[in-house]
Amino acid sequence: MQRRHLLAALAAAGLPAWAADKKLVLGFSQIGAESAWRTANSTSIKQAAKDAGITLKFADAQQKQENQIKALRAFIAQKVDVIALSPVVETGWGTVLREAKVAGIPVILTDRLVKEADESLWISFMGSDFVEEGRRAGRWLVDRVKGGKDEVRIVELQGTVGAAPALDRKQGFEEAIKSEPRLKIVRSQTADFSRAKGKEVMEAFLKAEGPKRIHVLYAHNDDMALGAIQAIEEAGAKPGQDIVVVSIDGVKAAFQAMVAGKLNVTVECSPMLGPPLMQAVKDLKAGKTLPRRMVTEEGVFTADVAARELPNRKY
Ligand code: AHR
Repeated sequence: MQRRHLLAALAAAGLPAWAADKKLVLGFSQIGAESAWRTANSTSIKQAAKDAGITLKFADAQQKQENQIKALRAFIAQKVDVIALSPVVETGWGTVLREAKVAGIPVILTDRLVKEADESLWISFMGSDFVEEGRRAGRWLVDRVKGGKDEVRIVELQGTVGAAPALDRKQGFEEAIKSEPRLKIVRSQTADFSRAKGKEVMEAFLKAEGPKRIHVLYAHNDDMALGAIQAIEEAGAKPGQDIVVVSIDGVKAAFQAMVAGKLNVTVECSPMLGPPLMQAVKDLKAGKTLPRRMVTEEGVFTADVAARELPNRKY
């Protein structure tokens, strides 16, 4: 595209007039390193920026929204070309996103969505459909218990309070298990998407209920499930057999746990958002309009296919 056409296209889209020959600068605000998923996501972003020749300013917020807001303000002050945000929680972003808009810096949301009435504050959102992931986990369980007569007591390990994947995966799962009245969530608590907290909260569940009164563990991510598996074993029960374990992400360690018979199913949630994000940044530079929503394609993996799939896993 000729430079004057490029500048006209950017102006028409309300975007900054980048110099066509300038190396693009992307400011990326990451949540932290709470899970294997998150680490793989950071690696994907860093590698893809390098491959695409985009200068990446990467800020790790260590799980704190205030650190993410500070990082976004620093990116605005540094006049980066594009900001990408993976928001730790859904709410509380309006002010800083308006500051970016006023500064003429386009914002792309990756992985998680925000809840703001003014949807013009970001130009695109790329990532998984978390409600559908919850539904997939629920549907698998409904199928698994089909034909039985007894009550099935479920304990749930939720992700970070107020985070999109925690809210959506709960919603989708509850929606899917409604069709089977024998399925009952008897305890549900946050374990912040971390392995250590997953173990801690599962220990409390086991103490309160006793291992025999827990039939299913539904964890909003693999890390919490893996921590909980340890707690189940320490309580003298067999994860994957005495207690069915259902989780989300599809990280390598979850596949290893499935091969060992300790985890029954993992619903895939891909962290490999680096390449599509860099493509989106380049497309913006070329004056293209980005789709408002880019949904990642994902599958469901059960223990019987784990050994075959393990060598193909990229994270
Ligand atoms: O937002 C994606 C979720 O965040 C992943 O499921 C989880 O592992 C991560 O911490």
